[in-house]
Amino acid sequence: MKIAIDGPAGAGKSATAKAVAKELGFIYVDTGALYRGIGLYVIRKGAKASSIEEVVPLLAEIKIEMKHIENEQHIFLNGEDVSGLIRTESVSAAASDVSAIPAVRDFLFDMQRDIAEKNDVIMDGRDIGTVVLPDAELKIFLTAKPEVRAERRVKQLLEKGIEANFDDVLADVIQRDYNDSHRDFRPLKLAEDGILLDNSELSFEETFEKIISLAKERMA
Ligand code: DC
Repeated sequence: MKIAIDGPAGAGKSATAKAVAKELGFIYVDTGALYRGIGLYVIRKGAKASSIEEVVPLLAEIKIEMKHIENEQHIFLNGEDVSGLIRTESVSAAASDVSAIPAVRDFLFDMQRDIAEKNDVIMDGRDIGTVVLPDAELKIFLTAKPEVRAERRVKQLLEKGIEANFDDVLADVIQRDYNDSHRDFRPLKLAEDGILLDNSELSFEETFEKIISLAKERMA
């Protein structure tokens, strides 16, 4: 069985999908990490992440692997485990830029298909229900109001001891939403047979329960 979870940054896709995977015994696949791996490589090479001319030739030098070690997904970039290094703000921005390049999306496509063919998966990203797994039994578009997502982000940062200004974070959320949903190639959008789930007013548990009950319906 395949479950696709798409939606904008900060909707809680990864935390929810991870918990659902654990409950159902599925493999959780965070596809954003693949784009982040490429973003990191591009930064290290000093190339401009939004430049097709600079990024595309680098793809031939990149080997990205995804391995599940003790139920945690790890990303390897040319053999190096970069799972921690890809979680910075600069890598987020580079990932968003490279993800708009068609050759980058094609480069990562087979790997995503391949893992879904071999396992029961819950995969989160931006184009999973529309492009990567159009045959998924359940497609959720998980979202929340930008203000709510910015508030959650500020809270997360504060928990890590990082001071953040709400207005700056909100501007960042709105900018990323715009980039991800307005790129020409395979933008973020609700699949025709996808279910829109706005969790602005829902707790983590309520979101989790909702997805579990939808999944169980489809599995029956
Ligand atoms: O989910 P994330 O924030 O880790 O994703 C990083 C970037 O990668 C995000 O800006 C959009 C892009 N992305 C994508 O275009 N398609 C996916 N399936 C996953 C992520």
